[in-house]
Amino acid sequence: MNNQQVIEITQQYLMPTYSQLPVAFVRGEACRLWDADGKEYLDFVGGIAVAGTGHCHPGIVEAICKQAHSLMHTSNLYHIPPQALLAQRLAELSFADRCFFCNSGAEANETAIKLTRKWAGLNREGACFEIITAHQSFHGRTLATVAATGQEKYQKGFQPLSPGFRYVLFNDIGALEATISDETCAVMLEPIQAEGGMNVPADEYLPAVRQLCDERGLLLILDEVQTGMGRTGHWFGYEHAGITPDIMTLAKSLGSGFPIGACLATEEVATAFAPGDHASTFGGNHLACTAALATIDVIEEEGLVQNAADKGRLLEELLTAELSSCVGYDYLRGRGLLRAVQLTGQASAKDVERRCLEAGLVVSAMGEDKVRLAPPLMVSEADCRQAVAVLGQAVREASRS
Ligand SMILES: Cc1ncc(COP(=O)(O)O)c(C=O)c1O
Repeated sequence: MNNQQVIEITQQYLMPTYSQLPVAFVRGEACRLWDADGKEYLDFVGGIAVAGTGHCHPGIVEAICKQAHSLMHTSNLYHIPPQALLAQRLAELSFADRCFFCNSGAEANETAIKLTRKWAGLNREGACFEIITAHQSFHGRTLATVAATGQEKYQKGFQPLSPGFRYVLFNDIGALEATISDETCAVMLEPIQAEGGMNVPADEYLPAVRQLCDERGLLLILDEVQTGMGRTGHWFGYEHAGITPDIMTLAKSLGSGFPIGACLATEEVATAFAPGDHASTFGGNHLACTAALATIDVIEEEGLVQNAADKGRLLEELLTAELSSCVGYDYLRGRGLLRAVQLTGQASAKDVERRCLEAGLVVSAMGEDKVRLAPPLMVSEADCRQAVAVLGQAVREASRS
């Protein structure tokens, strides 16, 4: 099948939930992709922050194949060796003591919400189930996580929303303090709001949130679905703030593209769950956990957390040098390798995205005026230089047209 044939079948048989670009990728290797017509691309989207270890890393492919030959799935009614090892590994890497595994970011956040309500029922008086989240947040597309998401555009058409969420301005500690009530049991935030526009809070914000949660007896839930696993230049986004949450969720790059999500928590919070409280048929199966264990091995062995920090800085320098005099470019948002080019009103993000794709660079438009960059963590200096040259040209051309 070529690109056009894939597009025609998709348009006839798929539910129309995605607005897709006219390309079908069929092969990947590290930071490169090839489409069904044989054209090569430099991938600076990485499946939206999923391909942290690049496409088809040989160590991860080998681990998945080997595991698939011996055992892919057994129920969580029985012990699962790679699941036990993955939970141990994640606990060693993070603040957490215990993990629950599922299949996606939304499910990881559903787990966090259920765990919080269970904990509050056991530890707090009265009807205390409210979770405060932020405007411009994104926590997923299930009914509870879409209610947790503080953006109306994702909620429209799906009312009634699941109750129990209130929204405050991100990066505003006064607004958070004013919204806490006797019904509040937790605050749920992303360390960087990625889908909401790549909003990095002030350095003092997350420490102040942590302190407020401690003073008021609230749990702090951090959604690290997009920021986790090294992307921002630390293993987890909370490390930049020098704090730890009570609950953290992961997904996206955890399995290098193999579906897996995780909800991690401290001993005190995690043990609010008892057998029967929560479950997932596929969650934490042999294959998914093997993919995640191999992902952690590769990140460690290849120093990818440090590379994300270094190449993130390089990207900032190169983009500033390339584009600072261009009328369409404003500034670079984000941290490490989780970035967005902020455009002025002179250039449209969709136009820049389309021009880059034609020139063989995959970037992703966010709204009208931002272009997301989330390349694999092993991106090289040469890749960064190539991407910046193509992106620079696209922004200049889009600014003229
Ligand atoms: C911060 C955050 N949380 C949750 C999700 C939802 O993850 P999933 O699409 O795997 O359900 C996303 C997806 O973009 C995300 O960025």
